Amino acid sequence: MSVWDRLSLKGKRAVITGASRGLGFAMAEALGQAGAELILVARDPDKLHQAQQKLQEQQIPCHTLPADLSTPQGAEQMCQQVLDQFGTPDVLINNVGGRRIDLPTEELPLEQWLRILDLNLNQAFVCTKILGGAMLKRRWGRVINVASICAMIATPLIKGRSYETAKAALVMFTRATAADWAPYGVTVNAIAPGAFLTDTNRRWFQQRPGFQQQIEQEIPMRRLGSPEEIGPLALLLASDAASYITGAVFVIDGGRTLV
Ligand SMILES: NC(=O)c1ccc[n+]([C@@H]2O[C@H](COP(=O)([O-])OP(=O)(O)OC[C@H]3O[C@@H](n4cnc5c(N)ncnc54)[C@H](OP(=O)(O)O)[C@@H]3O)[C@@H](O)[C@H]2O)c1
Repeated sequence: MSVWDRLSLKGKRAVITGASRGLGFAMAEALGQAGAELILVARDPDKLHQAQQKLQEQQIPCHTLPADLSTPQGAEQMCQQVLDQFGTPDVLINNVGGRRIDLPTEELPLEQWLRILDLNLNQAFVCTKILGGAMLKRRWGRVINVASICAMIATPLIKGRSYETAKAALVMFTRATAADWAPYGVTVNAIAPGAFLTDTNRRWFQQRPGFQQQIEQEIPMRRLGSPEEIGPLALLLASDAASYITGAVFVIDGGRTLV
């Protein structure tokens, strides 16, 4: 089998959370271009529909599933819907997450702390348990958790340490689950992005003039990542080509964590 055949996702079904824009959309597009049938999850049905149209223009088979994953209950409902409507997926990308808060620890209310743990960690646990758990019986599956370089370093420029904490826990959840599920042919890996130029970050930059340049100065490549640069990495991890990779954390950050 050629290396291109091993990267093909023909006949595979992938659930991508937070897929209507940003990194989630870019990863969905890469998997779709490699032949996967996609199930896109996000809250806003109109944005989901727009994303679906962009993918269908490329002849990528694509379904949408509006759901709010900000609570474990919301995640549970979404997973049941996936199983009822589409059956067990082959690939799950747990991409929903975000910092949302810029408050120092000494001022951070407990409820905000818990909200960020729900958004970045607890819903990913629920989706992995239900959808990844269903893959075990079939003895083939791919779970990809989108963490952050903030699982390894704290960014001095933005506060809200619930984010660093949740992403670091997501990395250890990835490694421990990978060890448990390796005998079943279900791999569990994490991607740890540095700063990418997504809509959410564009908004931060508009609110704080000079902030983008400050961040770029910290990156050896002197630029932010472009969302499509994450697609090929997600594709590799979703494919048969990554059959011996599990429990790994792939940093993609233009060298930010090297300095
Ligand atoms: N961008 C970066 O520089 C960067 C760096 C490191 C790590 N990351 C991580 O990468 C992931 C994606 O980041 P991103 O910047 O691409 O995010 P984004 O641009 O903010 O996109 C978020 C996606 O998630 C959906 N979403 C947000 N909240 C949701 C919820 N409660 N339930 C369901 N869907 C929800 C959004 O659609 P709706 O709003 O319609 O729900 C959208 O499709 C996150 O886990 C983030 O922590 C990003």
